[in-house]
Amino acid sequence: KKGNYDHYMQKEIHEQPDSLTTTMRGRLIRGGGDKVKGVLLGGLKDHLKTIRRSRRILFIGCGTSYHAGLATRALVEELSGVPVTMELASDLLDRQGPIYREDTAFFVSQSGETADTLQALEYAKACGALCVGVTNTVGSAIARGTHCGVHINAGCEIGVASTKAYTSQIAAMTMMALALGEDTLSSRNRREAIIDDLFNLPNMVEEVLKLDSDMKVLAQELMDEQSLLVFGRGYNYATALEGALKVKEVALMHSEGILAGEMKHGPLALVDETLPIIVIATRDATCSKQQSVIQQLQARKGRLIVICSKGDANVMCPNGGCRVIEVPQLQDCLQPIINIVPFQLLAYHLTVLRGFNVDQPRNLAKSVTTS
Ligand code: F6R
Repeated sequence: KKGNYDHYMQKEIHEQPDSLTTTMRGRLIRGGGDKVKGVLLGGLKDHLKTIRRSRRILFIGCGTSYHAGLATRALVEELSGVPVTMELASDLLDRQGPIYREDTAFFVSQSGETADTLQALEYAKACGALCVGVTNTVGSAIARGTHCGVHINAGCEIGVASTKAYTSQIAAMTMMALALGEDTLSSRNRREAIIDDLFNLPNMVEEVLKLDSDMKVLAQELMDEQSLLVFGRGYNYATALEGALKVKEVALMHSEGILAGEMKHGPLALVDETLPIIVIATRDATCSKQQSVIQQLQARKGRLIVICSKGDANVMCPNGGCRVIEVPQLQDCLQPIINIVPFQLLAYHLTVLRGFNVDQPRNLAKSVTTS
């Protein structure tokens, strides 16, 4: 079932143009004639009004699923006008954080069976919130227990490290944001531009997968390192956290995702000539800030690997001296789907080179059904 691939994780990384196509199938309306360009999410359409009227939206999940929520938070806030609060399921339960009847709680879970997320669902239901599931598993406990929801339709994911489910979660939640904003005239151009890029997304992911051999070379350079830092911000703060999680969970290398805006508040002390640092600096509203982050890291002789948009190498790294990885550019909110791919490839190659089990990392289970 692995076909031409050595591992499920590798297969699932390379499958993403197809899994994303399946996630979007039948849900994007191209427009033209008497049809309006838009999205159709059957499982949500009767609840959109209630969600738009809610006082607050909560995104609740664990691990990679939490990161998918984080990647789409800004777009949901932009298009719905409703503030979005991020909750790690275990932390919400630990502190019994307040949830109200006027809240809408989204439960993001690939398996739909994660114990912490499931318990948070029971808790939010008892508080009277509208509960929405975002899962990959039809008939799972979270799919059954929520009031309504969206299936991400990424297909079965076997590798313990989540890859294609992550990108499909972001695509599904982006469509959700578009649906929430569909009655707002002022955001119409923005929504249409995102929809156009969603149609383009599988091809762009195909394009970024061509970095495979470059990421293998990078993995060869980094394989004996103790540690790796990843700096991101804005839409790609999530990419930094998720990229670091992939590296630590499969390659068993310490790796930390850091919000670049926090760099001066502590992490800068770690910078020297040896510690590898990946900076995500693709084109968006935050990229000039990332440019100055790169300058400050270079001033401290940081060992930099910069991920930037195609053609931006000289702008982002004018003095040379850093390794640059160029990726295709889409609408800012879709860029996390593109930008995570080099990290998935890097984590995969690091793991193989370091001789660890790719599909079954030590101490981890695919579905965490105990809390
Ligand atoms: C990391 C990973 C985990 C899961 C987490 C939640 O690659 O797979 O962090 O994302 O255990 O799992 P689900 O999404 O099934 O609730």
